[in-house]
Amino acid sequence: MNLETSYMGIKLRNPLIVSSSGLTDSIDKIKAAAEYGAGAVVLKSIFEEQINYQSGMLTKGSDYPEASDYIAYYTKTHSLDNYLKLIRSAKESAGIPIIPSINCVSADDWINFARNIQSAGADALEVNMFFMPVDKELKPVMAEKLYFDLVEKLRETLDIPFAIKLGQRFTNLLYLIDQLYNRGVNGVVLFNRFFEPDIDVNSMNIIPASVFSNADDKRNVLRWIGMASAVNDRISISASTGVRTGDDIVKYLLAGADTVQVCSVLYSEGYEYISELLASLKSWMKSKNYKRVDEFRAMLNYRNFKDYKKYERAQFMKYFSAYE
Ligand SMILES: Cc1cc2nc3c(=O)[nH]c(=O)nc-3n(C[C@H](O)[C@H](O)[C@H](O)COP(=O)(O)O)c2cc1C
Repeated sequence: MNLETSYMGIKLRNPLIVSSSGLTDSIDKIKAAAEYGAGAVVLKSIFEEQINYQSGMLTKGSDYPEASDYIAYYTKTHSLDNYLKLIRSAKESAGIPIIPSINCVSADDWINFARNIQSAGADALEVNMFFMPVDKELKPVMAEKLYFDLVEKLRETLDIPFAIKLGQRFTNLLYLIDQLYNRGVNGVVLFNRFFEPDIDVNSMNIIPASVFSNADDKRNVLRWIGMASAVNDRISISASTGVRTGDDIVKYLLAGADTVQVCSVLYSEGYEYISELLASLKSWMKSKNYKRVDEFRAMLNYRNFKDYKKYERAQFMKYFSAYE
């Protein structure tokens, strides 16, 4: 049985990718992911805010502006240098494609850093792009333009493929994906998971909601992968959110994903669960007599599934009427 998959033109031994998170922030963890069979890993993101924050803390209280500049520069270089070292050592020892990740909220510096990531030997880059629209005067078309401008700069800078990891909420996601493809983006990761606020009614404070996903979080993702893979079959799609079992991987592949990322479940089950997920995928393929992933990938997407209208149903009268 052959699980080989192509993602953004890179050959993977199987479609399972360990997502960007604390699970991929050191060489030992990356090696563990590879040993248990992951097809690739996305490294923990380097956060623009994290670096700025670190610099800000270190320079706080300094009376010497030139010293502050130096410290800020050093912190930034140091942190970024460690990241580049991690890429190099992962490339040397893990034996699977390594995809670093940048978490960006503005343009310039990060685009230059992307070039260093490429030089360090990364196979591809994942860019976690999110601009929180907090300005009611900002027209939606201008909010989207921020994404397009950044992507155009990145394409000019990089030779390696790159994917944009998107949030779930856009007015017209299919348009956005198409426009990203037209600007040279090789893949999209559907979807990212963000910090979400909750309210503690006792302390009357804003607190972070749980960062981990559950199986139900998968459903909206399934819809958009089913639609996006049908509308643009040239851009690679990586599913991310809510994988708990091997069947969840099968579902995303049937909906049209090229690869499937796994995160929360590995926090609870450990890296060894990667081999169980892959064994379960193989066992499903065997039960259906498939020898290669391409034989069934996208079989149930918005184009290939005969009752494709099911993907469009959001307000479904009959469905809700069943609950009286
Ligand atoms: C603890 C934790 C840390 C994460 N860190 C990052 C990160 O640095 N960069 C990123 O793009 N996504 C990050 N994510 C999001 C995951 O990569 C993934 O997209 C998300 O958790 C959905 O997948 P899941 O349902 O399998 O957990 C993180 C998620 C968790 C739970």
